[in-house]
Amino acid sequence: MAEMPDLELIHPLKLFDIAKNEKRFLYTCAPMVRYSKLAFRQTVYAYGTDLCWTPMILAKEFNRNRFARDSDFTISTNGPQPPTIVQFGANVPQELARASSLVAPFSNGVDLNCGCPQSWACSDTLGAALMEKRELVRDMVVETREQLRRDGWGVDKEKDIDNPKGRSVSVKIRVHKDLRKTIDFITTVLGPDQDRHIDWLTIHPRTRSTPSSTPINLEALEILTSTFGDRVPLLLSGDVFALNALPFTSPLLTTTPTFTTSSTPPPPTAATSNPLSHIPNLAGLMSARALLANPALYAGHDACPWPAVETFLSNVARCPLPFKLVQHHLSEMCGPGMGPNKSALLTKQQRARVMGCGNMVDLVDFLDGNVWSDRATL
Ligand SMILES: Cc1cc2nc3c(=O)[nH]c(=O)nc-3n(C[C@H](O)[C@H](O)[C@H](O)COP(=O)(O)O)c2cc1C
Repeated sequence: MAEMPDLELIHPLKLFDIAKNEKRFLYTCAPMVRYSKLAFRQTVYAYGTDLCWTPMILAKEFNRNRFARDSDFTISTNGPQPPTIVQFGANVPQELARASSLVAPFSNGVDLNCGCPQSWACSDTLGAALMEKRELVRDMVVETREQLRRDGWGVDKEKDIDNPKGRSVSVKIRVHKDLRKTIDFITTVLGPDQDRHIDWLTIHPRTRSTPSSTPINLEALEILTSTFGDRVPLLLSGDVFALNALPFTSPLLTTTPTFTTSSTPPPPTAATSNPLSHIPNLAGLMSARALLANPALYAGHDACPWPAVETFLSNVARCPLPFKLVQHHLSEMCGPGMGPNKSALLTKQQRARVMGCGNMVDLVDFLDGNVWSDRATL
């Protein structure tokens, strides 16, 4: 990392601004442990994603171990380098500040994970356990901003929007069962309106114990966006499955991309046939599971197109991933997606063949011999 030349990096708030001027949501790719690695980030970036998160990286390990740094954080120096937010898991202000200082030359901003519900994380007061520690979270972001300022980075949010050294500090949260606690949490972490402590906030409107199969809490989202949406840019994480089937309305939904569909349009889902909540104060969308299945989601494809798979494989050739991960990505991209369009690029049997391949050469041979050759003769 130390030998890299200075990168020209855009301030993430500038991307929020561009999207707003285009009267659309900011499109972002969620942090996903194991999956939101460089080759995948490059793929979603090629298909309209504005801003990408790395998987959560444990700040303490990152600070102490060079191998953790090399394996957890990869960027591209000569290929497409998507605007990237490095997400950390941390519970000590100096640890988050130190790790942020290490990645600041190579990333557009840093983010603190206050949403991971896994028991190992919560028992270490990481992830969602931090939703009970609002002063600590505030101290962590304040310390990080101060450290980055001491290092010479521009951390004055909108004032540094055109500064090539401008960097962001943000937080991703879940909600509490009692929403008043979430309001207290955000109020503390945000700090004063004239000089808020964070650039933006990502809200995943589920509690720590809500399964991901339960729909997001739209009422909580409505309350939080109307309370805080004019004080800090807000992103929604959760159930962003298809841009033409979001379970709410917003003025920023008038300019969604034209949809490319490989089959007849799906019937309205339960969500779209119900009266929809109106969420006017939301700046952007963050997608995890739906982007895994369809990296072209934000480019207006309602199911994964083959060229996205090809783009992913050519990114993997340049920025390798462990083979098991490549297989998992392919089975996600080639199966039915999260949105209403349930068409799939490969049949269940073909996906099982993909999972049965022993290495990259077998995998490419299988696709070449069975799938891509069929496409060529169509
Ligand atoms: C495989 C996987 C890994 C995840 N890893 C992280 C992570 O590292 N950090 C984080 O804040 N959230 C993580 N999440 C949660 C997602 O970022 C997101 O908030 C959640 O999946 C809801 O979004 P979705 O409905 O679009 O999937 C992960 C989710 C998945 C499915």
